[in-house]
Amino acid sequence: MVKLKILSGSNRPGRFNPQVVDFVRTVAEGVPSVAVKVLDVAEINLPFLDEAKPPMMRDYAHEHTKAWSATIDEADAFIMVTPEYNHSFSPVLKNAIDYLFKEWNYKPVSFVSYGSLAGGARAVEHLRGVAAELKLYDLREQILLPNYWEHQDAAGKYQFTERHRENVTEMVRQLAFWGETMKTAREKLAA
Ligand SMILES: Cc1cc2nc3c(=O)[nH]c(=O)nc-3n(C[C@H](O)[C@H](O)[C@H](O)COP(=O)(O)O)c2cc1C
Repeated sequence: MVKLKILSGSNRPGRFNPQVVDFVRTVAEGVPSVAVKVLDVAEINLPFLDEAKPPMMRDYAHEHTKAWSATIDEADAFIMVTPEYNHSFSPVLKNAIDYLFKEWNYKPVSFVSYGSLAGGARAVEHLRGVAAELKLYDLREQILLPNYWEHQDAAGKYQFTERHRENVTEMVRQLAFWGETMKTAREKLAA
């Protein structure tokens, strides 16, 4: 099984993020050979990075860092679900990413984003640069939800389409393939 973690990118009260995370999780759970888990930054609630030593040293002082390290270390693949804030991704997501280094290395990642006209595209372009530094392998498969509020019903529920379902399925299939392949590669590197 490939351990796929879906990382949320907003902790705001009233955030839209959980609607997208829930949809992605439900679709991902239907893909064979994938064990899906949601990592909600609001629940994980990391303080602003408070480790004295750089993450590359992997010598953590705090229990919250050790727990976060173990969570990311066991993962084989990621989907990051991000809003766009001022043409970039959210500070709470950056903080969660910056805590660690090696735990991210040689693992595939895909992005789902939302926002106004650009659907979070600019946030994801920034995330791709960050991914390169962390030796995360960013996949082409990407989903954008532009002007998401125009696709919500009267109760505020986003109306996902069959196309979204197909796109998430393909994204997860790719992550499953590369997650498995890179697991083997990591084992070779460690040998
Ligand atoms: C601080 C801030 C900056 C924002 N900047 C952008 C932006 O640059 N581009 C965009 O498409 N939407 C922007 N928005 C709108 C967000 O996409 C929208 O509020 C979205 O619901 C945020 O995600 P969340 O509800 O999951 O936190 C911004 C929202 C906030 C709170």
